[in-house]
Amino acid sequence: MGATVIDGKKFAAGVREQVAAHVTKLKSENGITPGLAVVLVGEDPASQVYVRSKGKQTVEVGMNSYEHRLDADTSEADLLALIAKLNNDPDVHGILVQLPLPAHLDSDLVINSIDPAKDVDGFHISNVGLLGTGQKSMVPCTPLGCLMMLREHHGSLSGLSAVVVGRSNIVGKPMAQLLLGDSCTVTIAHSRTKDLPEVVRQADIVVAAVGRPEMVTGDWIKPGATVIDVGINRIEGAEGKARLVGDCHYESCAAVAGAITPVPGGVGPMTIACLLANTLTACCRANDLAEPEGLTA
Ligand code: GUN
Repeated sequence: MGATVIDGKKFAAGVREQVAAHVTKLKSENGITPGLAVVLVGEDPASQVYVRSKGKQTVEVGMNSYEHRLDADTSEADLLALIAKLNNDPDVHGILVQLPLPAHLDSDLVINSIDPAKDVDGFHISNVGLLGTGQKSMVPCTPLGCLMMLREHHGSLSGLSAVVVGRSNIVGKPMAQLLLGDSCTVTIAHSRTKDLPEVVRQADIVVAAVGRPEMVTGDWIKPGATVIDVGINRIEGAEGKARLVGDCHYESCAAVAGAITPVPGGVGPMTIACLLANTLTACCRANDLAEPEGLTA
C-alpha cells in the first residue's frame, strides 16, 4: 500500500479560510483589521517572489498589507528607524523582515529590534526563549505548519519518536522544540551526524530540513513512518528543465512511508498560511481578545 499524501495546498487553503472568517468577525464585532508589514531590502529575486505572494495572500484574507521595499544599500540606521516606526504603529500587528538581508546588515540586530509581540516570524531572541521554555510565544511559520499537519494526521503525537534532520534557527531547532512540546522523543540530526540513515530509520516522524536535494532515500525510512519534507530545491531535470524537489527522494520514501508531504504542494503553502495565522494571533493578543483556536502551537 502506498503512503497517504498529506496535501499541504488543501490544508493551507483551510487555514486561510479559518483566518479569513476570524478577520471578518474582528472587523464587524471589534472594528479591528489586522495588519502585516513586510520589509524587503534589496532585489533578491526569490525574496521578491515570496514578498509578493505574502502581500497578495494577506489582502485575500481581509487583512491590511504594508510593503516596504528598500534599496540594497540601505543603512542599518535607516532600517532600524523603519522598524521602530512599525513597532509604534498601532495598525501594524505583525512585522516581517525578509531574509536574507544584504551582507552589510546585521540580521540578528535587525530581527531583535522588532517588538517581540509583533515578531510574526518568531525569530526574536525573546520568542526563541519563550518557545524553548514552553511559554506562550510567536512560533516560526514553517515548523508551525509542519506541526499542524502532523497533529491533523496523527491526532496525538505523544510518545512518538521524531528525528529532525537539519539544525537551522528557522526550521530545525524550533521544529524540535514544538515536537518536544507535543511529547515526542526528539533527535536533532544533521549532515555531520554519524550513521545518519540508521538514526533516521528509528523515527516514527521524520522532518527533513537540510537543504540537500533528495538526500533522504526510502531505505532510510522506517516502514509506516510519517515523512515531512521541508526542502525546496531547484535542480536540473530531464532535458535541462528546472525541477523542484525536496530533501527527500519522493518515490522511494513514499514506497515505504505511511504518510508523506509532496514537493511542491506540501509544507511550502503552509508557511504563508501560518504567517497569516500568526498575524491574526498577534492582533488578538494586542487587543486582549480571544485567540483563534487551532492556529497556534
Ligand atoms: N526567508 C526565507 N524564509 C523566510 C521566513 O520564513 N521568514 C523570513 N523573514 N525570511 C525568510
